[in-house]
Order: sequence, then C-alpha cells, then structure tokens
Amino acid sequence: MILVTGGAGFIGSNFVLQWLAAHAEPVVNLDKLTYAGNLRNLDSLRGDARHVFVRGDIDDAELVAQLLRAHRPRAVLNFAAESHVDRSILGPAEFVRTNIHGAFNLLEAVRAYWSGLAGEAKRGFRFLQISTDEVYGSLAAGDAPFRETTAYAPNSPYAASKAAADHMVRAYYHTYGLPTLTTNCSNNYGPFQFPEKLIPLVILNALAGKAIPVYGDGLNVRDWLYVDDHCSGIRKVLEAGQPGAVYNIGGNSEKNNLEVVQTLCAVLDELRPAATRYASLISYVKDRPGHDRRYAIDAGKIRRELGWQAAESFAGGIRRTVGWYLAHAEWTRSVTSGAYQKWVSANYQERGAA
Ligand code: NAD
Ligand code: DAU
Repeated sequence: MILVTGGAGFIGSNFVLQWLAAHAEPVVNLDKLTYAGNLRNLDSLRGDARHVFVRGDIDDAELVAQLLRAHRPRAVLNFAAESHVDRSILGPAEFVRTNIHGAFNLLEAVRAYWSGLAGEAKRGFRFLQISTDEVYGSLAAGDAPFRETTAYAPNSPYAASKAAADHMVRAYYHTYGLPTLTTNCSNNYGPFQFPEKLIPLVILNALAGKAIPVYGDGLNVRDWLYVDDHCSGIRKVLEAGQPGAVYNIGGNSEKNNLEVVQTLCAVLDELRPAATRYASLISYVKDRPGHDRRYAIDAGKIRRELGWQAAESFAGGIRRTVGWYLAHAEWTRSVTSGAYQKWVSANYQERGAA
C-alpha cells in the first residue's frame, strides 16, 4: 500500500480518487483536516476498504512512526501543506510548522522506517515530495520557462517554506540515500479546490453577484494545469522516476489573470446566464505584496524521460471545472462556513478597490 498525506485537500483528494480508480493497491490517508481538508471530497470512497483515513498531523512524530510500522507502505507521498500564498503573507508561522518542520518530521520517520527494510522492499521504496513551481521565483515576459536546474528564488513565505522542504528532501537523498522524488508543478484547478484560490473564488463570487477581485493590473501570468493531469504526472513519477530526481509538471498553458477571469465569465454567461454579463463584476483591488509576475514550466524532462504530458486543454478543463462547481452547490456551501467568511474579510476588506 501507499501512504498519502494531505489526501483530504484539493490535489490530494483528486489523487486518492484517481489512484483507487486505477489501482487495486490500498491508500492510507493522513490528514489533519485543517480548513482546507474536507472529508466530503472522499465521499465516493465510503465503504471502500482500500481507503484508510487517519486524522492527524505530519508533524506528530509518534503518530507517523506508528502508521509506518502498522501499514508498512511501499511509498509515502507528501501532499500535506499550507498552500495559500495570501494566508502565508498574513500569517507565516503555520507554513513554517507544517511545510518545513512537518516535512522534516515525515522525512525523519520515513528514514527510520526505510533503514529497517531489506532487499527489494528497501530498493523499491520511494518518498515523493509534492512541490511547486513557486520555489523558482518570478519570470520576466521573455524569460525561458523554469527547468529542473533553475536556481531557487522563492519570494513569498509559502514559496520559501516549500523551498526549504525541497532542500531537506534533496539532502536526505544525498546524505542517507533515501530514495526520494520531487515534483514541482504549476497552478492547478479543477473539482474540490478550496474557494480561496483564484478560479473557484471567481466562479463563486460571480454566481453570488459579488465583485470579482483582480489583484494589481491583472496581468500576472500563471501556467494552468487541470488537476487530473497533475495526479497522472505524480503517478508516472512514482512508477518510473529516478531516485533523487526532480520533475517539473506543467500544462504549457500560460494565461494572465484577466484572461482566466474573462474565460470563466464567458463560460458562466453561457451555462448560467444572468441579467448582466458576469465580466461587469470584475473589480481591480490592491496588489498582493511581492506578487510574482510570471510562472511558466518547461515540462520537457518528464515528457522525454517518462512519456507524460498533459491531456486536458485549458478551454476543456475550465468548462469541466465550471460545470463541476455548478453541479456541487452543496459542497460549496459546506466549505464556505464561518471560518471562510472570516478569511474573506481579512484578505479583501482592507484591499478595497485599486
Ligand atoms: P490544500 O490546501 O487544498 O490541501 C492541503 C491538505 O493538507 C488539506 O487537506 C489539509 O488538511 C492538509 N494538511 C495541512 N496541514 C497538515 C498537517 N500538518 N498534517 C497533515 N495534513 C495537513 O492544498 P493543495 O492545493 O491540494 O496542495 C497540495 C500540495 O500540492 C501542497 O503541498 C502544495 O504546495 C502543492 N502544490 C499545489 C498547487 C496548486 O495549484 N494548488 C500547485 C503545485 C503544488
Ligand atoms: O504555482 C503553483 C502555486 O499555485 C501553488 O504552489 C499554490 O499552492 C497555489 O495556491 C497557486 O498559487 P497562486 O498564488 O499562483 O494561486 P492563486 O489562486 O492564489 O492566485 C492566482 C493568481 O491570481 C495570482 O497571480 C494572484 C491572482 N489573484 C488571486 C486571488 C485569490 C487575484 O487576482 N485575485 C484573487 O482574489
């Protein structure tokens, strides 16, 4: 079996669902269920004995060691993290605790467990760290996309915390020989994404007739990838990646934020027409401090070496995503509770209109 952490969050839950649809192999899912973790994402696995959910913290050494002893996984995949850049700006401490210390704690427990394995079990074991393209910093308009060899230059507390974890993963491979893998992926979107992130936030605000907040001039560029493609890339890296290696994963789909927002509004105009066009809700607000201008991924290595490439187009993925949010109003209601409302006030009230 495999041990997944953060498997009740956006990408982790999509991964667990995809894994169990494609493999017979069971998953132990360790998740703290922070505001971003939601067991409803895994509703379709109720009664499936191949999914074992454990509520707990990756920073709990005793719990992690006990899970490794009890389940003896052949791989550990670390999705668990604090993941929202704006939250890291308002409160970085939790990012240091989970993303850095939690990852370190997991690595230590895994190292002890792996050291006790022998033969094929030891050779075949993998620790896979799910990381981000934000560790590489910000690109200017004409710069070449990030490669696996691009120097790290994180600019937000979130990116710095992920970079620190990546460095520890690298060190555990070089120092202890732990068979690690690292993936650095671009911006994901799709079902079950918490509506603090741009795409679900725009969909939900538009449907509620609320302002659609665009930071700064709206021309920051991200490289968008449908979440199923990220998950299939991770499966490919787990199956065939070289121990110690890093793989960039991206959709070759650079868009600026205004293009993303306008595409969403156009799809909503078509699928859920309102009295006025949704784009009339677009409102420019104060920029994010240290806002990275552009991310772009060169995914050539994973394509050449492992034969992976994104299957979904941006237009197709956005349509599927809007359709999913329209069909899952109950999920949205369940995650936009009091805590969510508090976050929206903290992040947007003082931003005002730009
Ligand atoms: P998310 O915030 O939706 O989910 C994170 C999950 O981790 C939640 O279920 C939460 O409960 C859990 N968690 C948080 N702290 C924990 C702890 N201490 N112990 C156990 N569980 C804990 O995040 P996401 O968008 O699904 O991102 C998953 C991973 O992918 C993260 O490592 C993130 O850095 C990385 N990533 C995200 C994107 C993206 O666009 N969302 C892109 C590239 C990489
Ligand atoms: O690149 C990968 C990263 O993508 C992941 O590592 C992060 O976990 C994930 O959150 C995401 O980070 P971003 O900061 O790029 O995503 P976010 O959805 O927060 O913002 C996308 C862009 O939209 C960014 O340029 C900021 C802008 N934005 C965001 C929000 C929430 C707005 O203009 N308005 C908003 O209200």
